[in-house]
Amino acid sequence: MDAFAFIIHPIDPKRDVSRKYPILGKYLTERQIDYFSTFFPPVYISEIEGIRSELTGKQVKGWFIACPYTPKRMLELPVQTVYKKLIQTGRLAEKLGAQILGLGAFTSVVGDAGLTVAGGLKIPVTTGDSYTVYIAVESIRKAAEVMGIPLSEATAAVVGATGSIGRVCAELLANDVGELYLIGRRTDALEDLRTSLQPQAHARIKVSTSMDDLRHAQVILTVTSALNDVILPEHLNPGSVVCDVARPRDVSAKVAAVRDDILVIDGGMVDVPGPVDFHFNFGFPAGKSFACMAETIALTLEGRFEDYTVGKNITRAQVEEIAAIAGKHGFRLGGFRSFEREVTEEYINKVRQNARRAQSLRRN
Ligand SMILES: NC(=O)c1ccc[n+]([C@@H]2O[C@H](COP(=O)([O-])OP(=O)(O)OC[C@H]3O[C@@H](n4cnc5c(N)ncnc54)[C@H](OP(=O)(O)O)[C@@H]3O)[C@@H](O)[C@H]2O)c1
Repeated sequence: MDAFAFIIHPIDPKRDVSRKYPILGKYLTERQIDYFSTFFPPVYISEIEGIRSELTGKQVKGWFIACPYTPKRMLELPVQTVYKKLIQTGRLAEKLGAQILGLGAFTSVVGDAGLTVAGGLKIPVTTGDSYTVYIAVESIRKAAEVMGIPLSEATAAVVGATGSIGRVCAELLANDVGELYLIGRRTDALEDLRTSLQPQAHARIKVSTSMDDLRHAQVILTVTSALNDVILPEHLNPGSVVCDVARPRDVSAKVAAVRDDILVIDGGMVDVPGPVDFHFNFGFPAGKSFACMAETIALTLEGRFEDYTVGKNITRAQVEEIAAIAGKHGFRLGGFRSFEREVTEEYINKVRQNARRAQSLRRN
């Protein structure tokens, strides 16, 4: 049976270490976990079974394996040390019999986004970022629809627009919306992106380095590699929709606590075809995976054992191709969650009502 492996890593050190080692998670402090993670070997997490293509009936299996570094550690350590650990983790995948390796969350952000890791392994590698882009943009389109926001007239913003995921999300959204803010930290890089996107875009494109400009937007897609929250309650307009693709998250938990007039959705949740069992709780309901995992699985179902999304330059063609491959095997946008909770129709109606109230208070 064809097989894949997917590298995960702790994001919230205490919560995620507890998922595999409850005792260590309980007694070690966050700082201790960060420190000890440097010396920890790669960890076998679980076998994944029950995946079946809707189109061909082909079944595949896989494994979760963990690189012990937290995002903070991956940014602090020399990049060569991180590559070494990722290649070591990839060798574990090779020993298990995987024919392709997916790089989860921050393991695809560090350094050259998989190029060096792919060079150090016998099996091909993908970051999964092409399908992450597709699902993020689909999520924001669907969320705008349920919130009654007509996209073609809306103002949208992409935060982290100069990043590898953000850049292609901006390219796709620029055809959907009336106005698009590219938000980031470096004006030069933002201006370069605007210059390259504007000629083909339906939207008027503006650039900004200030989160305060999010107040102009009804639709926001955020995907920075920041370690801490970058979007706070005071940045957002009533009735807006925010799709948070970043891990760690970009949207502060305070937004959920104090803004009942905004829909924040977690980006990247996908339904996996077949009675899948991951044998590991990574925070999603049964049968659902992150889009980046789905890309790795879809390539395995397709028998495409090649370096697929590696490096920082994701193309629109790659996004469209993986969307077609995943779609035909039965992967679908997996509904909405907000801060790891299900978003029901009733909840959306409540947010819309609260937004209308807040908007009329502002007008009066
Ligand atoms: N949900 C999923 O399935 C999934 C899958 C893959 C990745 N991800 C997540 O997606 C995020 C981005 O990944 P990527 O590969 O696109 O990373 P990337 O290429 O390194 O881009 C990161 C972007 O974030 C910006 N940024 C970093 N720190 C910031 C800060 N403090 N304030 C504002 N902007 C900041 C960077 O700006 P500069 O250009 O100025 O450096 C850059 O535009 C990560 O959190 C990753 O874990 C999620």
